[in-house]
Amino acid sequence: MDYIVINGQKPLNGTVNISGAKNAAVAILPAAIASNGICVIDNLPQIEDVTTLITAMESFGAQCTLTAPDTLVVDARGVNSWTLDDKLAKNMRASYYFMGALLGKFKEAVVPLPGGCDFGSRPIDYHLKGFIALGATCVQEHGAVKIKADKLRGANIYLDCPSVGATINIMIAAVFAEGTTIIENAAKEPHVVDTANFLNKLGAKIGGAGTNTIRITGVSALGGGEYTVIPDPIETGTYMIAAAITGGDVTVENIIPKHMDSVTAKLREMGCAITEGGDWIRIQSDSTLRPCEIKTAYYPGFPTDLQPQMATLLCRANGTSTITENIFEQRFRYIGELKRLGAQLKVEGRMAVTEGDCEFTGTRVIASDLRAGAALVIAGLCAKGETIIGGVHHLDRGYEKFEEKFRTLGADIKRIQRDG
Ligand code: EPU
Repeated sequence: MDYIVINGQKPLNGTVNISGAKNAAVAILPAAIASNGICVIDNLPQIEDVTTLITAMESFGAQCTLTAPDTLVVDARGVNSWTLDDKLAKNMRASYYFMGALLGKFKEAVVPLPGGCDFGSRPIDYHLKGFIALGATCVQEHGAVKIKADKLRGANIYLDCPSVGATINIMIAAVFAEGTTIIENAAKEPHVVDTANFLNKLGAKIGGAGTNTIRITGVSALGGGEYTVIPDPIETGTYMIAAAITGGDVTVENIIPKHMDSVTAKLREMGCAITEGGDWIRIQSDSTLRPCEIKTAYYPGFPTDLQPQMATLLCRANGTSTITENIFEQRFRYIGELKRLGAQLKVEGRMAVTEGDCEFTGTRVIASDLRAGAALVIAGLCAKGETIIGGVHHLDRGYEKFEEKFRTLGADIKRIQRDG
């Protein structure tokens, strides 16, 4: 029931340290329960999705100990159950990775259909087709998927589209399949590579992650190991866009600049000055923004997870911009709330158009999902007067210390806590 209050129109200035990548961490944690050794996972973001996953891992019998706020030691040798609780599954999307991990290690999993952000139907048919190709049966009953196999055998699997979730899930299960599995048309996102690197550290034999063909040679068991999660490209992009909209000068640190190429290119096209070093990017903006065209695409294209934030920025450009959403059929649902702050965006099918030059003015709005919430915060940071944002639990799922980090950059932002 918390809400965020922002008094806008303060340029952001300074340095912000980026946390571990949510979408890498939420794959690596479920993968860790397939290990027979001790895993030490570092640079975990302190977000609700991670907390939920730790609870889920413990519910299977894994021992999880936080030795530092961002370091988790996982001992999964005691895992003795392969049924995930309905509530834990529905709190998040990444609960689906327990399917691959449990199927791989125990040849059995009962996992309720996942929750997560609502942008229309988000099927998991490619995941299940992959498991079936490896020799499993998948039956959906009472809202859960029951997956079983006597043994898993390597297979050639072609994905109809390069789904991040399906690529990672099939890859985790295939680590335990006899022989070789080839995933064609695989997703190339940095978190796919990170999950593969983690599994390889534990003894898996995965090659080609980061290209559209991933080759997995099965092993009989995974050991332990230490691993550091990559920095979060979406958190990075969110601060870059916030700097641009407020006419700020912000350095994002502890990042991989290469992961940001599509975002950096668009912000430069809009007129922002961007410099980068080994693990940082500095963005300077004088708030004079040129319009541009955004088309979301699989990596290395422009990420759908920054589409709402970027659409908000384009509302402030001095001319007409178009935003085409190619990944999710209904990821413009946030626009209604953004309009209450003054956005002028017309949606036609998969495209949104803004004439630009919008003046944001504060009012009460509600975040409908994680990145929708980030877009509303960004609009609030440049809005005249006070913006009050509800639905903050969505932000807590995926951004570590969101208001705190903005405050260190000079934003006038606070959280009001409400009980019950
Ligand atoms: N799709 C299918 N069938 C499937 C799987 C996917 O039709 O079995 C379709 C989807 O409906 C969508 C497209 O394929 O149209 C791509 O979906 P993908 O599977 O890549 O997405 P996801 O695994 O559900 C992950 C992230 C999302 C991110 C997308 C795209 C996690 C936990 N979630 O979702 O992250 O938007 O990839 O990059 O990794 C976020 O962080 O805000 C977020 C929503």
